Amino acid sequence: MNFKEELKNRTAYAEQIIRNYLPKEEGFSVKMAEAVNYSMLSGGKRLRPVFMYEVYKLFGGRGNVVEPFMAALEMIHTHSLIHDDLPALDNDPYRRGRKTTHVVYGESAAILAGDALLNYAYETAFQAFDRTDSWKPVADALKILGEKTGIMGMLGGQGVDVENDGKPLSREMLLYIYENKTSALIECAMMIGAVLAGADKEQVAVMEQIGSRIGIAFQIQDDILDVIGDSEELGKAVGSDEKNHKTTYVTLEGLEKAGEKVKILTEEAIDLLAKLPGEQEFFRELLCSLCTRRK
Ligand code: FPP
Ligand code: MG
Repeated sequence: MNFKEELKNRTAYAEQIIRNYLPKEEGFSVKMAEAVNYSMLSGGKRLRPVFMYEVYKLFGGRGNVVEPFMAALEMIHTHSLIHDDLPALDNDPYRRGRKTTHVVYGESAAILAGDALLNYAYETAFQAFDRTDSWKPVADALKILGEKTGIMGMLGGQGVDVENDGKPLSREMLLYIYENKTSALIECAMMIGAVLAGADKEQVAVMEQIGSRIGIAFQIQDDILDVIGDSEELGKAVGSDEKNHKTTYVTLEGLEKAGEKVKILTEEAIDLLAKLPGEQEFFRELLCSLCTRRK
């Protein structure tokens, strides 16, 4: 099977897992569940659960304890997108090729749908306890999920980003923002996959380093695509950073250097991966493909 077919299969698997865990649209809170499901089913790349499963397999993971965590992480990611698009933040009307949640359901409903999704992610992750008798790896995975998405992770990075909107940023602060608002979730995906499969501390630390580099590269490529990307292909407006007077890696270093940095970080991640055991071909190709992604 070639890489593209393999990626399609793995994305379809992640998609199925996510669908299995979505809230039921019933009762008085039906509108909230609808708004949640609207954003969850709008066709994201499902990269974070694909990463999680790939690392789980890399370390010999078996069984389905990883599945609630795959869904939970995509829920946290989607919550962050709903809130990031709100009028008070980036005020973006399109995401994943569809109108954003606040445009369809109204601003207050979108704020609450984001909150609901963040909470539902934990309700979902807790279901992992029903899938195994060994509680320690699940407890360790929950700790990673909480820390990497909280003040010392994604939310912290997003907070500093929003607080400094429109202001010039030092390279150091910009990299802090990228490490947290974007890398933290990718590190989280890879570390949880490793922990649930029984990887040791050093191996989990290597996954964190790989996630850090891939996350920063991913965010720089995001900056690049905001300038040179195609809005149709991306499923969202381009030029959002310029509109919001945002300092990005591209505004600091220029397009060419930004592209080189994406390559360097990806090569570093692949070198780190080579230290680990297991079948790596698909994983390596996946990391490489992100360098040249158009969406
Ligand atoms: C797109 O992911 C997302 C990013 C490049 C990360 C940007 C970071 C934020 C928006 C943080 C926001 C945080 C809060 C709490 C508001 P993707 O290209 O994988 O999207 P997809 O799932 O639609 O494919
Ligand atoms: Mg945005």
